[in-house]
Amino acid sequence: MILIDGIIIWIHLLAACIWVGGSIFIGLILAPMLKNIGNSIEERLTLMIKVGRRFNKFAFPSFIILIVSGIYNSRLFFENPNNFFESDYGILLFMKIILTIITFISYIIHIKTFGKEIENRILEDHDPQYLKSIRSKLIGYGRLIVILSVFILLFAALLDSGVKFS
Ligand code: HEM
Repeated sequence: MILIDGIIIWIHLLAACIWVGGSIFIGLILAPMLKNIGNSIEERLTLMIKVGRRFNKFAFPSFIILIVSGIYNSRLFFENPNNFFESDYGILLFMKIILTIITFISYIIHIKTFGKEIENRILEDHDPQYLKSIRSKLIGYGRLIVILSVFILLFAALLDSGVKFS
């Protein structure tokens, strides 16, 4: 392996740590704590959205880096896409890419759902039903992104170990 390949894998790993580690922290630790911190549900939700927005400053670039460095790591497959279906490694890689696309789409929907408009509405609209639905959407999307990201890591581990289906 030439040095540049090793450096790109390192960048891929670093971005994976930021993306997966941060998502796990938010999805499994901070989001469930929404039930207990702050004085009101409005306060908790705005806090959560603000934390999420700050996290996105690092998470979004990390995700883009994962995609770009991932494409570099798999350049031999992209040069000839038939390669994806000619080995177990190729199939696993293809499945990892599909999972990454699903995760990216879920993440974009998640960001769009909780924009500035929603943050303002939370402060103005005191309807408990509305606030509850926002909270469960926030927690639901957070969990989905964590689960998908953990599965992507599983595929990365299988690729690394050179696992065979038969
Ligand atoms: C959320 C997205 C992703 C995460 C969290 C992730 C995570 C990882 C991790 C932890 C590794 C292990 C590095 C190693 O020890 O070799 C890895 C390897 C790799 N990733 Fe990703 N990755 C992501 C997206 C992608 C994408 C989109 C592609 C392809 C377009 C890709 C292609 C690869 C390849 C080819 C390897 C080398 C596997 C091997 O060791 O043979 N990754 N990834």
